Amino acid sequence: MPTPTELPAWKKLKAHAAQVRNLDLRQAFASDPARVETFSLTFEDLFLDYSKNLVTEESMRLLFELAREAKVEEQRARMFAGEAVNFTEGRAVLHVALRNRKARAFKVDGQDVMPEVRDVLSRIETFTDEVRSGRWLGHTGKKITDVVNIGIGGSDLGPLMACHALAPYASKDLNAWFVSNVDPAHIADTLAKLDPERTLFIVASKTFTTQETMTNAGSARDWLLASLKDDAAVAKHFVAVSTNAKAVSAFGIDTKNMFGFWDWVGGRYSLWSAIGLVIALYVGFERFAELLAGAQAMDEHFETAPLETNLPVVLGLLGILYNDFMDAQSVALLPYDQHLDRFAAHFQQVDMESNGKRADRDGHLIKDYQTGPIVWGEAGTNGQHAFYQLLHQGTKLVPCDFLVAARSLTPLGDHHQKLLANCFAQTEALAFGKTESEARAELEQQGVEGETLAKLLPSKIFPGNRPSTTLLYKELTPHRLGSLIALYEHKVFVQGAIWNINSFDQWGVELGKALAGKILPELDPKAPLPTGHDASTNGLIARARHFMA
Ligand code: F6P
Repeated sequence: MPTPTELPAWKKLKAHAAQVRNLDLRQAFASDPARVETFSLTFEDLFLDYSKNLVTEESMRLLFELAREAKVEEQRARMFAGEAVNFTEGRAVLHVALRNRKARAFKVDGQDVMPEVRDVLSRIETFTDEVRSGRWLGHTGKKITDVVNIGIGGSDLGPLMACHALAPYASKDLNAWFVSNVDPAHIADTLAKLDPERTLFIVASKTFTTQETMTNAGSARDWLLASLKDDAAVAKHFVAVSTNAKAVSAFGIDTKNMFGFWDWVGGRYSLWSAIGLVIALYVGFERFAELLAGAQAMDEHFETAPLETNLPVVLGLLGILYNDFMDAQSVALLPYDQHLDRFAAHFQQVDMESNGKRADRDGHLIKDYQTGPIVWGEAGTNGQHAFYQLLHQGTKLVPCDFLVAARSLTPLGDHHQKLLANCFAQTEALAFGKTESEARAELEQQGVEGETLAKLLPSKIFPGNRPSTTLLYKELTPHRLGSLIALYEHKVFVQGAIWNINSFDQWGVELGKALAGKILPELDPKAPLPTGHDASTNGLIARARHFMA
């Protein structure tokens, strides 16, 4: 594969981007009444408006040319065909199979994985019904009222985000809790609110070796047994979600209470697997199935729609334009939807763990282009009162995605209209700003003049031409949530395909884990003070031990 910078479209985009970087959106809208029609797409009741981006028809033509030259379609086909696209780990990448609700086969090494996928789903359905109906009881015969998902990274963020998003669909009799951090405060604060007789723990870990999860699971088991005083209680209060049956069994969980998944499911793409058990328990299996169906609808769209009308492709290409041709360092995900308050956190992992890479697929270090952006964000309107100042008047280019539902699932007075008004207003302000003459006229109207006016004026100007994309949907149903998550997952795929990187490994998390393993015994007060690290690390360990004594 040629590197992206060698592709003809990349070279053309370099020259082209220098011009559109200065595109005047006021003028672009004034001179083209059809701009929104040209730069928008519809998928079911989801409307994607990308007209407020720094693009012309020529920009999009070049970007689609780039996608074709980078063989995005071929790479997409290889993923759907179950080829080992995660080549550093020799694994297929088939989260799309997990949400395949149709008769289609998905093969890994010539073997259809769907029978196993359906089998686990049906076990999830049975278990979910048992717990929710009260047929599954705790060790002392009491109904389960609280489920605690113990996991981290992909075994936490996706289910956590989805449970927040689907809270309006949740049963009032079952609470979902999430414990991820190894900081004792996380599990201690959570357990303090719970009744051991009514609590079910899901130990969610693909590998079942992750330090944080195994430590939290051990402490949860101790807490349970300290109260119920019978080892047999574990069977009624602990289930596991993992690919590692041996480790599950060694922990003391009967493998009949284990829900499996497979190495072709990446952690950050695993909420669709048994890792989503907590979601199914929280909102019911039917809603979980709707979530899967929403994702599948987006998968079909991604797999079959022409690049020009393909939502994940368009989002991915816009990101490439800013990241690689306009020096943008980050992307803001701004859901005007309180239920999506963890959306940015989840996609921080999906995007940054997938595309935060510096080695390409041919084993070369990347030297002359940028890969994954920094992903961040916060639910609106809160963000407006925190960091939007920088978005509007700072010196950095931050492309923003606004996500908003036309209808609230929890309507109350005119709250939702106010939310929508704020969302749309922000996209308008970012794009069109306030010109110098408008700012001057306003100040003059307030009686400000002369030197005072001259001094104030620069602070009152909004430069505008700050790009944003708006995703407007009818309401945040499980189906819509599924399609939104799949949309962003595939966007990340498109970008990784163009950057010629493996989006499905995460070797960058290993070094810190290994060093933590080395430092842990050195924190023991009885161990000799370490000398084997650098002076800073040795000193930090010594000082911490001094404070701990
Ligand atoms: O942070 C690294 C990572 O491997 C993630 O990719 C993964 O989601 C997380 O740790 C948790 O892993 P596991 O599910 O195996 O406990």
